[in-house]
Amino acid sequence: MTQDRLIEERQTKIGTGIADNYDRSATDYEQAARHNATGARRLVASLPDADVDRILDIGCGTGFATLPAIRRYGASSVTGVDVSAAMLDRFKGQLDALGGVDYDLRAAAEDQTDLPAASFDLVLSSMTMHWLPDRGAAVARMAAALRPGGLIGILAPGVGHDREYVEIVKALDPPAPEPCWDGWGLAEVSTDDLAEYFAGAGLEVDDIWVEVRVRRVPLDVLMARMRTVGAHTWNSRLPADEVERQLARIEEAARARSGPRGFEYTFTKTFAVGRKPG
Ligand SMILES: C[S@@+](CC[C@H](N)C(=O)[O-])C[C@H]1O[C@@H](n2cnc3c(N)ncnc32)[C@H](O)[C@@H]1O
Repeated sequence: MTQDRLIEERQTKIGTGIADNYDRSATDYEQAARHNATGARRLVASLPDADVDRILDIGCGTGFATLPAIRRYGASSVTGVDVSAAMLDRFKGQLDALGGVDYDLRAAAEDQTDLPAASFDLVLSSMTMHWLPDRGAAVARMAAALRPGGLIGILAPGVGHDREYVEIVKALDPPAPEPCWDGWGLAEVSTDDLAEYFAGAGLEVDDIWVEVRVRRVPLDVLMARMRTVGAHTWNSRLPADEVERQLARIEEAARARSGPRGFEYTFTKTFAVGRKPG
């Protein structure tokens, strides 16, 4: 597939309705997607020691990445960009509770807000890259915002994440409508992808790696995550009652595949850390 076609596919299949979806799920996000918090902490722990005072977080959500980065580095200034005002609202609450940090939270798509050039000591983007249709251009914008010598850390869902879940959706009989499953591959980010984006943006790579976790969870935990974030890749392309009907069918299929310890699935995460040449 050409790059333009890929960007268009991402735009039309998984790139619509994101702000509304996250506005609706903001109150459930931290519980339903709690593994994103531990992943973000591992991303921050993997960054090198450095002087970091000003942090930019692209797709910051409720702050899963930036909050541990503030604690690690003692940063005093945060800029967070997110299309969902409700997610930002929760982040604001956490920053207020922490105190001592100046913040600028922008409810905007990352390509629709002007960020000062060469101004940040650290740019983070955790579990957001998969939502961005032109990811290479997004990383180039992150690089432009970094000061020379500044650090960057990216975490994204990797190749094959949730493959057991996707298998049961694809195997439904009668078949589920295509939107229920055709966006999953588009939401994957590989190590080669991140290496290409870093190179294209003139960033140096410190490390790029994949983490694979095999989890067993109770059915209600699985479905809470799928309702809160998983269905975001497809629910804007089907009528609401059809979304509910398909989710009920998926839940039954997941129940049939669950063992005594719940539903087993693989979650793959792709990490990259690096810097802007100084
Ligand atoms: C899975 S959440 C991750 C949030 C947070 N970074 C974390 O690690 O928990 C993805 C976030 O990306 C945001 N997002 C999606 N597309 C975006 C865009 N084009 N510009 C800015 N934010 C975006 C969503 O609103 C959502 O808050």
